[in-house]
Amino acid sequence: MLMNRIEKAAVNSPVRRALQRLYEVPALLRLAGGPLPPDSAAVEIGCGSGYGTRLILDRFGAARVDALDLDPGMVARARRRLVHRPGRVRLEVGDATDLKAAFGAGDGTYDAAFDFAVIHHVPDWRAAVAETARVLRPGGVFVFDEVTAHALARPSYRLLSDHPEHDRFTAGDFLTELPRHGLKVTGAFTRIRGDYLLGVAVKQPAAG
Ligand SMILES: C[S@@+](CC[C@H](N)C(=O)[O-])C[C@H]1O[C@@H](n2cnc3c(N)ncnc32)[C@H](O)[C@@H]1O
Repeated sequence: MLMNRIEKAAVNSPVRRALQRLYEVPALLRLAGGPLPPDSAAVEIGCGSGYGTRLILDRFGAARVDALDLDPGMVARARRRLVHRPGRVRLEVGDATDLKAAFGAGDGTYDAAFDFAVIHHVPDWRAAVAETARVLRPGGVFVFDEVTAHALARPSYRLLSDHPEHDRFTAGDFLTELPRHGLKVTGAFTRIRGDYLLGVAVKQPAAG
């Protein structure tokens, strides 16, 4: 589901960027135990204007990132932001629930997957989790920073932004869903009374 104009402005504001750069990324790096191993390939779902994509390259140390977003306008902004990283970023318009369509991504393609505040925008959010898990190799990491049902029920979110109305997830719902797709949560915490969930999960080898 696309962002409305007000949410776009908030998400792309200097305040949000500072929060992401100075608080969220350091916290996620701590949970992940540091940057990715050399030559890691990452996928980012819902890349928006590409600010997070740049952090995945520069702070998480990914060698390459495949990044997609449902909104062509956002992908155009990301292309402009990332024009100086030729050969390291592929950007496509596409849906987080179908990474094969966007990138031809097979099972176990990536060493890392990033979700910076996207899955709560997807009506079938479990399908987005399943697809993210599918494209991670065993041992690959899923780094997530999500907005929960608690936040979306607040008047500020209800009045100013558009989100799927049904089947929203709490932090507990999200953390319970991950192991169903072979993702073992290795660290997670909520902030502002469960409004936001930050965490890291590792893809487990297939049983048998
Ligand atoms: C809150 S914004 C976050 C953008 C970016 N990750 C950031 O942190 O700035 C949510 C983004 O998810 C995108 N989005 C929503 N549904 C999507 C879907 N099914 N597949 C891919 N992107 C989606 C929206 O277009 C929007 O850019």
